[in-house]
Amino acid sequence: MSEVALITGASKGIGHSLCYRFAQEKIDLVVVARSMDRLVELREDLTGKYGISVTPIAQDLAKEGAAEELYSKVKEAGIHVDHLVNNAGFGDFGKFDEGSLEKYDRMADLNVRALTDLTHLFLKDMLKAGSGKIMNVSSLLGFQACPYWAVYSATKAYVLSFTEAISEEYKDSGVTFTALCPGTVDTDFIAEAEGERSKLLYRIKIRDPDEIADFGYRMMMKGKVIAVPGTANKIIGCLTKIMPRAMSRKVFKSLQ
Ligand SMILES: NC(=O)c1ccc[n+]([C@@H]2O[C@H](COP(=O)([O-])OP(=O)(O)OC[C@H]3O[C@@H](n4cnc5c(N)ncnc54)[C@H](OP(=O)(O)O)[C@@H]3O)[C@@H](O)[C@H]2O)c1
Repeated sequence: MSEVALITGASKGIGHSLCYRFAQEKIDLVVVARSMDRLVELREDLTGKYGISVTPIAQDLAKEGAAEELYSKVKEAGIHVDHLVNNAGFGDFGKFDEGSLEKYDRMADLNVRALTDLTHLFLKDMLKAGSGKIMNVSSLLGFQACPYWAVYSATKAYVLSFTEAISEEYKDSGVTFTALCPGTVDTDFIAEAEGERSKLLYRIKIRDPDEIADFGYRMMMKGKVIAVPGTANKIIGCLTKIMPRAMSRKVFKSLQ
């Protein structure tokens, strides 16, 4: 039987590219996002090009109980998920008090709660099977308390810390965990976060989502715990660890 990967945020951007990367390896897919029309289009293209099975599921993962609902739909379809990619997420740039509280809550619900819940639900099946791979999409901003990206960088710091912690808990279980930490990627993320106003995003190389998907796929398959694409980004990640926190948050503020 062929392996199955469930990818959230599959309708566009990095998640969409990841679907093609998994499809190249003939891995069947469960693709999740809110836009069913895009998911159906994706299924048509992937089944035509790669002959794999693609199950589209429309789900707003920021809603309470969404992860459980998604898990039930997958179980009802009789699908065992071998690879879980928690990729769906969004950000928001700007001064904290000027942002929308509703948006911050939705961000925490999607970037943190849904990711944690889906990991909890699918991990149990993977542990029973004695194998599985989970990749959680964090960000380079997850290494650093980042002024004007305060809520977003905090959600991504959670993703990084959570993934690292459980990777150690389940070291010999047959299940591996990867936190993918990209810098700036050329997707709708930037416009949706009003990130064009953030000089920080343009100070590093802007990468193509296909390149990030390929890197993420390879790191996930290797079971690499922290995956930072690009040498300059790796150096930034290391510097944030070495620099005193009081200094690094000032530096990151000045780079905005
Ligand atoms: N682009 C960057 O510079 C960058 C850098 C570092 C990390 N990241 C991270 O990479 C991940 C993917 O982002 P991207 O750059 O590919 O952005 P994107 O192009 O905007 O894609 C976001 C994906 O998430 C889905 N999504 C959004 N809200 C959702 C919800 N409530 N429920 C279910 N699905 C939802 C979207 O689909 P629908 O709209 O159809 O629901 C879409 O498929 C995110 O976690 C982001 O934080 C991005």
